[in-house]
Amino acid sequence: MCGIVAYVGTREAYPIILKGLKRLEYRGYDSSGVALLSNELSVYKKKGKVAELEESLVGKDLHANIGIGHTRWATHGEPSDRNAHPHLSPSGKLAMIHNGIIENYGQLKSELLKKGYRFHSDTDTEVLLSFIDDIREHNDCSLEEAIRIALKRVVGAYVIVILDRDNPNTLIAARKGSPLVIGIGKGEHFLASDASPIIEYTKEVVYINDYELAIIRPDELILKNLGNETITPYIQKLDMELAAIEKGGYDHFMLKEIFEQPHTIFDCLRGRLELSEGKIHMRGVEEHMEQLKQAKRIIIVACGTSWHAGLVAEYVFEELCRIPVEVEYASEFRYRNPVIHPGDVIIAISQSGETADTLVAIEKAKEQGALIFGVLNVVGSSIARASHAGAYTHAGPEIGVASTKAFTAQLAVLTMMALKLAMEKGTIDAKRYQHLMTELSDIPEKVQTILQNTDNIRMIAEKYADARDFLYLGRGYNFPVALEGALKLKEISYIHAEGYPAAEMKHGPIALVDDQLPVVFIATKDAYHDKIISNMQEIKARKGRVIAVITEGDTVITDMADDVMTVPAADEIVAPLLSVIPMQLLAYYIGVHKGLDVDKPRNLAKSVTVE
Ligand code: G6P
Repeated sequence: MCGIVAYVGTREAYPIILKGLKRLEYRGYDSSGVALLSNELSVYKKKGKVAELEESLVGKDLHANIGIGHTRWATHGEPSDRNAHPHLSPSGKLAMIHNGIIENYGQLKSELLKKGYRFHSDTDTEVLLSFIDDIREHNDCSLEEAIRIALKRVVGAYVIVILDRDNPNTLIAARKGSPLVIGIGKGEHFLASDASPIIEYTKEVVYINDYELAIIRPDELILKNLGNETITPYIQKLDMELAAIEKGGYDHFMLKEIFEQPHTIFDCLRGRLELSEGKIHMRGVEEHMEQLKQAKRIIIVACGTSWHAGLVAEYVFEELCRIPVEVEYASEFRYRNPVIHPGDVIIAISQSGETADTLVAIEKAKEQGALIFGVLNVVGSSIARASHAGAYTHAGPEIGVASTKAFTAQLAVLTMMALKLAMEKGTIDAKRYQHLMTELSDIPEKVQTILQNTDNIRMIAEKYADARDFLYLGRGYNFPVALEGALKLKEISYIHAEGYPAAEMKHGPIALVDDQLPVVFIATKDAYHDKIISNMQEIKARKGRVIAVITEGDTVITDMADDVMTVPAADEIVAPLLSVIPMQLLAYYIGVHKGLDVDKPRNLAKSVTVE
């Protein structure tokens, strides 16, 4: 979380930084700020979204060819002007932006307080900057050397970028744990937390690794490790188009991303699922097939929506491959003392590939000999680089904070993976394999059918938008969809919602049911259909308001429920790819109806690079 942008070159830095901050706002939007260096070093910061900073700077002389910018998701210190980045060093010579957490900042702060330093913010960032400044002032060393000395004492995660009044042509950046991309232009360089602020100017980028320090001038990029040894930068070409990160006529990124799903799922299947050959091509799986076949256990680690994709995958892998699967919250897994055997396979699921808890969890499992397989969206991300193998979801950049298209692409990849493995292991027969391949390849068209008629979902959303709580219930493959539906609603409409296995509802949540409570049933036709109808009766008997996601033509539930949303018929293994779409739209339309900023819900951030 927190987005950083920086520029050094011959163009005006401010417009580039401002545009970049707007693209990175999904990473946090509590406050933002810029530091620009021309004749003097000027810092401007403001509580609130980037647009508020922009407004406050109208009419100011912002001319400079070098600068840094930051959009914040608060960790240490409330969102406020004074806690916003960039921070200024005590000498007034340095300005710094930071993404991450300095865990031992308390210790460093008390050492600095004893030396007489005073602080103007509550942030760990200001402490680190003062520490660097102190080393430089008292050891008569270069800024680069002072940063190296300081970072050797730092515990935590960071990307920092420093602007130095005495070196008006140079930015110094360093990374551990949080992401940093450097775009290479002609006589200019662009720095950012991800490639979206850079793509407009250049496609040549360098991803900085942990414990690396970059010294960046208009014509020069020097990369070193903390031992001061020079490293050759590995230049990569970005495979991303500008249009992919713009709204393209939609009111919100979230809506655009929901509507992109027929294409994103298709792109995910393309070149992999070959119906005519009856084959699934996945290089990452093929290269590790023996280990996957021998796996006694699969452990899935993830957070948020990706964790829900993991829950669906648990059902699919167990059913098709007959391998026991455990699905773990990465944040819990990393701090437990989990039992991991060398033959275990860890599947890390992450849209961003940067989630701190997931990254640390896989590093821990890797140390204990497990094979790490990443199911990731962002190419070249930290988790991608830390994995032994993987499969990208190819959903394209996801900008709305609430994840939508990344989820369905994750399900598509995981289902293909399970199918391929099951066929190799001989745990499914050729007929079922071919049938499920066909079912999967039909999904993009079926999603398109759902999206052709969203008026009904919008009307339902408006009818229930004033509810105080929602309950989401599902069974089997649709149980994780109930969790995901509830999460979507919480995230963007701020309505309290809980997801539950439909039968488990009797052990507690049923006490909440009254004539005010909307209960959303994910009740497409599957093996549990009759059971879920019974659960629906139990809610109706207590006067709950029933909204149901059903398979087209299901007259039984249509007659019972207060409102229904239909999806095309599909095998239950792929059904979540369809039943989740009305859930995404319901949350979206309720959020919009309530006048909320659905792309940037309060307190959230898309890429959670702190634990
Ligand atoms: C944040 C986002 C969620 C996302 C979760 C995991 O909470 O707001 O949308 O599901 O992080 O992120 P990842 O990038 O690892 O999938």
